[in-house]
Parts: sequence; structure tokens; C-alpha cells
Amino acid sequence: MTFPVFTPLQASLWLTLCGRALDNRLPHPILGDKVADDVVRKVGYDYKKLRIPRSSAIYIAHRAKKLDEIAQQFIARHPNAVGLDLGAGLDSRALRIAPPPTADWYDVDFPEVIRERRHLLPDHATPHGIGADLTDHAWLDSLPADRPVVAVADGLIAFLSEEEMISLVSRIISHFPSGEIAFNGYSKFAVWAQKRFPGAESIRGVVKFPGFDDPRYPECWHPKLKLRNEILCTREPEVAEFPLGLRLMNRLSARSASLSRRGNVVLHYSF
Ligand SMILES: C[S@@+](CC[C@H](N)C(=O)[O-])C[C@H]1O[C@@H](n2cnc3c(N)ncnc32)[C@H](O)[C@@H]1O
Repeated sequence: MTFPVFTPLQASLWLTLCGRALDNRLPHPILGDKVADDVVRKVGYDYKKLRIPRSSAIYIAHRAKKLDEIAQQFIARHPNAVGLDLGAGLDSRALRIAPPPTADWYDVDFPEVIRERRHLLPDHATPHGIGADLTDHAWLDSLPADRPVVAVADGLIAFLSEEEMISLVSRIISHFPSGEIAFNGYSKFAVWAQKRFPGAESIRGVVKFPGFDDPRYPECWHPKLKLRNEILCTREPEVAEFPLGLRLMNRLSARSASLSRRGNVVLHYSF
């Protein structure tokens, strides 16, 4: 097998893929993403060099689960939905959420990444793959414009500037009649911590997003964008499955919204 060659920005996908693979190897996985684990083993990726703490692997898996739930629930309410995984990397979200044949799921990432998805992931993991730079304007043109959309971005927004994020969100809102957009949030503290703490060395050079603390802040990106839900992961039921020390830390943080916002947060908007 030829080892995939990615730019440093594209290579950020290893961090999340390996995080989910490591979660799968725990006695009580939060997500249980066996496909991620299989891919990491298949390419023989040296995940140890990423120095991913167990807590980070669990958080990566946890937020992926929350984003899966948002997509799944939207598609259950709108069986003709269009689903978008923005910056899909080598994630096999379509396999986890199993959209019905009436819905269409699109994984969007750079062409090199979409090509590797076809080599490394099971066939049905990429029902539609779009190889494009999300900051380009044309990639949405080929997508149906008359159906509701659910767009999820897992680990993407850190790599866009705020202007690029505003432009992306605005183009999605202009293209589709209605929908939901969800992504993991980056607080100002998280951006600061990424530059200092272990586990994120591999992406330090490519992070652009400044972070924000108020979940309503993105409402200023587009007049139609409204906060639907702020998921503070410290307060989610999966915390009960966390290893003891991490569970206690999350239970403590859960008492304070501002403390919880510093950690794993999934933000969910509608338009
Ligand atoms: C941290 S990875 C997350 C990948 C995947 N969502 C996951 O959870 O495993 C970020 C992904 O965003 C993609 N990405 C970043 N900027 C992008 C852009 N401007 N256009 C397309 N993809 C982009 C990268 O190639 C990478 O695959």
C-alpha cells in the first residue's frame, strides 16, 4: 500500500481519525468507530507520534457522536435531505449514520483527500465525494438547491479564517431553502491551548480561526443563522462512560457553563 501524501492542512485528518481509532480501542468506546481503527491499522499510521492524550481521543469521539446525532435526527425529520460533511477527511460518517436512500450524503474535502477516501474506506463510505477547496465558490453549484440541508463540520473550522467561515456559511444559506449547520466550537481558550498543550502539535502551523466564546456569536455571520442548541459535552450522558478521572473532571466542569465552553462543545444552528 502506498502511504497517502497530504499537505500539512490535509494531514490534520490524522489527528481526528487516530482519535476515533484510539477511542475504539478503549474498553468502553464512546463512538466505537471500527472503520477509523481499520484505516489506521491498514496504512500503518504511526499514531504515537501525534501524542494524542486519551482524554483528547475521547473528546474527538464524543463530538463526532454528537454531530452524527444532529445529522441523523435532521434526516429522520427530512428524509429527502441533503447531508454535507465539510472537511470530511477520512471520516466514514455516512456509514455511522446510514442515511436512507431518499437522502443524499456528500463528503467534501480537497481532491487529494477524496481520492484517498476511495482507496482507504469501504465503497459505501462516500456516497458522493466532492474534491474541492471549501473556500472556492463553485463546489456548491452541482448540489440540489431545492432540498433541506444538514451540514456538519467536524474539526474543520479551526483551519478557516473567520472571513472564510462567514463566506462558507453564507453560500450554504443562499444555496439551500432551509437547513441546519453544526460544528465543534473553538473557544478563545481552546485556540490558546492548542498552541501550548500536547496533542495538537501536528496542527499548530495551520490553525487560523480566532475562536469565540458566545454560542450566539455566529448569528452575526448571516441574518438567517440562528442558534438552535449549544451542546456542552460535559453535560451529555456519555460522560458516565468516561474513565473515572476524566468523568470526575467533566462532572465538575459541567456545573459551570463558562468552564464547559472552554472544552468540548458542539454548536448547532438553523436557517
Ligand atoms: C481535523 S481534519 C477533520 C477531518 C474529519 N472531519 C474528521 O473528523 O476526521 C480537517 C479536515 O478539513 C479539511 N479542510 C481544511 N480546510 C479545507 C478547505 N479549505 N477545503 C476543503 N477541506 C478543508 C482538511 O483537508 C481535513 O481533512
